[in-house]
Amino acid sequence: MDYSNIIDLLYLVSIIVFIIGLKGLSHPESARKGNQVAALGMGMAIVISLFAPETGDNNYLWIIGAMLVGGGIGLTSAKKVAMTKMPEMVSLFNGLGGACAMLIGIAEFGNLPAGTEMMSGAVLTNIFAMFVGAVSLTGSLVAYGKLNGSLRDNFTLPAPQLINITSLIGIIALSVMIMTQPELNMALVYALLGLSLFYGIAFVTPIGGGDMPVVISLLNSVTGIGATGAGLIYGNNIMIIGGILVGASGIILTVMMCEAMNRSLINVLVGNLGASGGGSGSDREEIVKEVNVSDLAIQLKYADKVTIVPGYGLAVAQAQHICHEIENALEDEGVEVRYAIHPVAGRMPGHMNVLLAESDVSYDKLLELEPANDSFPSTDVVLVIGANDVVNPSAKDDTSSPIYGMPILDVEMAKNVVVFKRGMSTGYAGVQNPLFFGEKTKMLFGDAKASLGKLKDEIANA
Ligand code: TAP
Repeated sequence: MDYSNIIDLLYLVSIIVFIIGLKGLSHPESARKGNQVAALGMGMAIVISLFAPETGDNNYLWIIGAMLVGGGIGLTSAKKVAMTKMPEMVSLFNGLGGACAMLIGIAEFGNLPAGTEMMSGAVLTNIFAMFVGAVSLTGSLVAYGKLNGSLRDNFTLPAPQLINITSLIGIIALSVMIMTQPELNMALVYALLGLSLFYGIAFVTPIGGGDMPVVISLLNSVTGIGATGAGLIYGNNIMIIGGILVGASGIILTVMMCEAMNRSLINVLVGNLGASGGGSGSDREEIVKEVNVSDLAIQLKYADKVTIVPGYGLAVAQAQHICHEIENALEDEGVEVRYAIHPVAGRMPGHMNVLLAESDVSYDKLLELEPANDSFPSTDVVLVIGANDVVNPSAKDDTSSPIYGMPILDVEMAKNVVVFKRGMSTGYAGVQNPLFFGEKTKMLFGDAKASLGKLKDEIANA
């Protein structure tokens, strides 16, 4: 009996489940559920594919063995990884997805029936899957290295643009050569593979370490396209649709990140933002005003409205739980507490939402950029915790600033601003922040978790 129609129908069901899951990811409240639903859709697709005719009868041991090993590694590393290391893990996993598409492309060259016409869709699809997968693999590994510090932020090849263009021309030339041979020439295929792997390195190395989250999202999209290519090779609908969904959502996310920073994708790819590393900005250090925790505790207790602006430093310090405890303590004193969330605060999309959700902060307390900006003039105290670029007013008026044009949280409109950070280091964009020297601003230096711990005790005792 031919089950292929039933299998296609079940694939369709799994893809619908997967899309419903993706929809859930669009709101913090439904994101956890959405993730589980999407995982269910993906799990269904895997199980169904085991019954597909192309799976073959002799491969089950390999498939189950690989699933156990891969699933075990994935589960363990996902459980262990710290939230701040998430972009690195995504990058590594994404590279492995690229490696799969690349290996499928290579393997299927070997499976081409004798006498296959080289100028054919099958060969072009193999080339495509291999090229895209290889770029995604090495590009993701470079991104991983830049994120975890094993590769310097500004590590790059000499004359990167020239190398990139030459490599691309070489890739096109080799592809044409493969397709115009009378029969399969594996030496040319391996040359194309080598050049594609190199191109992934050459493409990502000139990009500044700080822009790696955007690059990872872009490579994620590329991996999706590679998976689509692999799906075309096997004529497997679920791989094609799954790959298209990953490719499309990756590119949408990339564009959204760029828009939230008010930068074009080209500017990200050649701009080298963050490659300069954090400067000290110490020339203005002497004129900042400091506050101590006891004075701040009293000020907070007498406030009507307090807004917390979390940033990357809050994630580094893992200060989200203590932050929530302070929110509760202040609310017990009758203070209204809200959180202002900038769309690119932290280092990955939804970073702050995920952290605050971890600490059970209620979603209705989270304000997005515009409502937060509307609320600042009537806010008594803003606590900027480990945020820097997202509250940098030079984005509005300093045309020479690399973050000029990025929408920011206008915290300086509030009556008082207190900034929690360890010193005067710059943030991700590598630029100093005039907010820290502003009339209404006071600094509370130290690790955010330690400072908030002391503040909580003072609030209890004040
Ligand atoms: P940043 O501008 O990176 O500033 C973080 C600040 O946290 C630093 O100035 C640092 O100063 C402080 N800090 C670090 N560890 C700390 C600790 N343990 N305790 C207290 N403070 C600590 O962060 P942001 O304001 O969240 O901005 C995010 C940036 O990342 C933006 O420029 C955005 O464009 C970029 N970006 C974001 C994304 C996504 S999707 N979120 C993607 C790509 C790029 P000290 O060292 O002096 O403490």
